Amino acid sequence: MCEAKNNLSILVLISGKGSNLQAIIDAIERQELAVDIRAVISNRPEAAGLLRAKVANINHHCIDSKSFTHRNHFDQELIAIIDSYQPDLVVLAGFMRILSDEFVRRYHAKLINLHPSLLPKFKGLDTHQRALDAGEQQCGASIHFVTAELDGGPVFLQTRLNISKQDTASNLALRLSPFEHKLLVKALDMISKNKIRLDNKVLYCDNKVLLQPLQI
Ligand code: GRF
Repeated sequence: MCEAKNNLSILVLISGKGSNLQAIIDAIERQELAVDIRAVISNRPEAAGLLRAKVANINHHCIDSKSFTHRNHFDQELIAIIDSYQPDLVVLAGFMRILSDEFVRRYHAKLINLHPSLLPKFKGLDTHQRALDAGEQQCGASIHFVTAELDGGPVFLQTRLNISKQDTASNLALRLSPFEHKLLVKALDMISKNKIRLDNKVLYCDNKVLLQPLQI
């Protein structure tokens, strides 16, 4: 993939299918997103997203988290690879691993996560089942800057979907997936255009304080 000067450079962390990574790759190829993917890193060797990176000719690495007994050692290895690419932003796109405080501090305001719920509701795992169990009318996905609190960093963009009586957790995940793709591409577009930034724990959109997440 050719790299233009001044584009936002990103590094994408994945653990699985990589459909969100693919959405970024496709948007770049359609020239709808002025972002360069410096590299993709998976913590799971079987992640299909690694193949997507290979096909798109993007640098890709696997650091198998199962082969580390200490969380910090895994994170140190991750930091070494990330820093060798010097990205402007690290993107957690289906990265199913909790990162250490040290890691989060190092990439403060340069680390975003896609989470499959309408945060602050349903932090953590099994978000769709928990939304169904709670009788929610809507589910959705959020993009937030990552802080030391799990899924607790400032949220700047969300997408939502009405839940119907027939919905199950798995079909909600399926229905939500194309919305997540648009959401992540939109978030990257906004950051690449300097529309969104986190400064001293405060979110700004177009240089005005953003008090509520934007909805798409
Ligand atoms: C997405 O649904 C995301 O919300 C969740 O994991 C999934 C990753 O999907 N955290 P993919 O690997 O990008 O296809």
